Order: sequence, then C-alpha cells, then structure tokens
Amino acid sequence: MSSSDKVETLRWVGDVDGHLVLIDQTKLPVEFQELECRSLEQVWEAIKQLRVRGAPAIGIAAGYGVCIGIQRAVDENAVFAQLSKSVDYLATSRPTAVNLFWALDRMKAKASSLKGESAASIRSALLAEARSIHEEDRAMCHAIGRHGATLLRDGQGVLTHCNAGGLATAEYGTALSVFFTAQDEGKHVRVFVDETRPLLQGARLTAWELTRRNIDTTLICDSMAAQVMREGKVQAVITGADRIAANGDSANKIGTYSIAVLARAHGIPFYIAAPSSTFDLSISDGSKIPIEERAADEITHGFGRQTAPTGVNVYNPAFDVTPAEYIQAIITERGLIAPVSEASIRQVLGRE
Ligand code: MRU
Repeated sequence: MSSSDKVETLRWVGDVDGHLVLIDQTKLPVEFQELECRSLEQVWEAIKQLRVRGAPAIGIAAGYGVCIGIQRAVDENAVFAQLSKSVDYLATSRPTAVNLFWALDRMKAKASSLKGESAASIRSALLAEARSIHEEDRAMCHAIGRHGATLLRDGQGVLTHCNAGGLATAEYGTALSVFFTAQDEGKHVRVFVDETRPLLQGARLTAWELTRRNIDTTLICDSMAAQVMREGKVQAVITGADRIAANGDSANKIGTYSIAVLARAHGIPFYIAAPSSTFDLSISDGSKIPIEERAADEITHGFGRQTAPTGVNVYNPAFDVTPAEYIQAIITERGLIAPVSEASIRQVLGRE
C-alpha cells in the first residue's frame, strides 16, 4: 500500500477552535465518506451509531469531543462547567469499552491540574492532551504489532473476529497490527475473518483493511469457525478487547467467547491484543464489565431489509466476556502477558 492510500480514522483540523473529522465507518466498504464533527452532539452520535468505533478510537474521539464541548467557554468557571457536562454526556454514549472512560478521566485530570489558569490556556492544554492520547495510541499499536508478530510463523493461518484494525484505533490496530507487522517482516500469514454478526465489522471493515494491504484474506460466516479449525486451516486466533478486568477476563465483540472456547477445543492458542488503556484494574473480574445491549433492528433488519418476523423477541448484547483461562497471552505495547493472571498483568503494566 502506498502512503497516498493511507487513511486516517480520525483527525483534528485546526487549532482550539477546530473540529474533528472521522471516517464514517457505517458506510464502508461501499463508500468512503468522512464526517465533520463540530458539536458535542455530533461526536456523541458518531460514537453511539458506530460511525467511529473500536475501543481505542472511541477514546480518541471522546478526547477531541471534550475539546469541542468547551469551545464556547469564555472564562475558567465556564470551562469547568462545560467540561463536566461534556464528560458526563459523552460517558453515556457506549458503556463497554473502558478506553472511553479512561480518556474522559484523563481529560478531567488534565483540567484539574490547570485550576487558576485562563480559559484560553486550559482549552489549549486540553487540545494538547487529546492529541497526546491520539499519538500515544499510534505508538502503542505499532508496539503491539512488534510483540505479537513474534508469535506468528511464515505460512500460518490465523483467525480474527470483529475489527481490531486501524479503523478501531489511531492507526494499524491491535490484532491487525500483528498481521501487518508480520507482513512487514516478510511473513506470509493467511487471515480468516469472521463476518461478525450483527453489524458485520469483520466483513465490512477488517476484510477491507486486510485486502487493501494485500494480506491473504478469507471471509467466513461466524458459524464456520469450528469447521475451519477442524480442517486445520488456522494455528492461532487473535482478537482485540474492549475492557480487560484485573484477572484478565476480557470483553470483546459478541462471539469472541465462543471462538475462544472453540480454539481451546481444537488445541489452538487464543490471544488478545490490547493497549494498556483497555485494562480496567478497578474491577476484579469480567462479571463486573457492563455489556452494551443494542437495538433489536440490528438483528431483525440486518441487511437493509426485514429478515425476521415483525414483533419477534430479540436479545442483542454487543459484547461478551472471555474468561482469562481461555487466553494464552495478552499482547500489549509493553510485551506479552502470559500466563494471564492478575499478578502477571500488574507486573507487565507496571501497576503492582
Ligand atoms: O462495537 P464495536 O465495533 O465498537 O466493537 C469493537 C470491538 O469489539 C473490537 O474488537 C475492540 O474494540 C478492539 S479494537 C482495537
């Protein structure tokens, strides 16, 4: 892929009075459309409707969202009032990915350290903080790729679920960063992509990212994973995560847990790739991770037309939790966490 083909999931345009531009991921892979967010409500809607999605990208959007939320503040009191309103509002957009709350906490903490300064200097420091969250994510994704690529051999088949790619992060992704880095190192990896019902992030987004980079990509329906494993086509599974509890239980897109169980049944290692911003050490285990429930029509009207009888009961949890015991290792920007336990997590993350 040439550098002119590079796409930016999110970018800030201008200075403190600027705006956020993001790829509207609901339109991919058919249309490539960018969306300008100039109000807090637009940022909230973009996160809620998955125009921007993926745990790290949601956190980055929220950081810039706060900058938009305080743009009209003329004095210090107004900055803090608008900051608090913006943070509370953005926090209601999606509940599962902890990166959202991590980024909002970071913006709040930065503002608190600036008490007594002028509105203009607080606004400019908060924009710098949002830019840092963005830049740090870029670096973390590349580091995850370097650590993860050591796990893959030339010629290997790998399965992934949902989209943990450049579109879900500042750039390169987490799980997909491992494949991109392996490719950069000259390894040929064959990636099987679950389509990821109901919103098809695998088919629409992961397959789009991988094929643009000429990675050997094979799309399958979610229900085909067991058969693909039994046929010996994959030797590893790598997915991203939305929130990892202190004991290593990991929430990710609905369907991830079943893939992990299938991988165990077939003796295939299952890995999670995630930056340190995805860990929530304040919760002891996965039972405390809030699971987002989404609208019924994502299931009943999945392909632009009605695909289920009117009025049928629907349950649509957007995420599930894979117990730590099914995870061979967690690939972070600081290295591999294995075995997955609270002690090893704290040790690798430096939060003992
Ligand atoms: O509902 P989504 O599309 O935001 O879900 C995204 C995922 O589950 C990703 O796997 C996860 O956020 C990791 S992204 C690096």
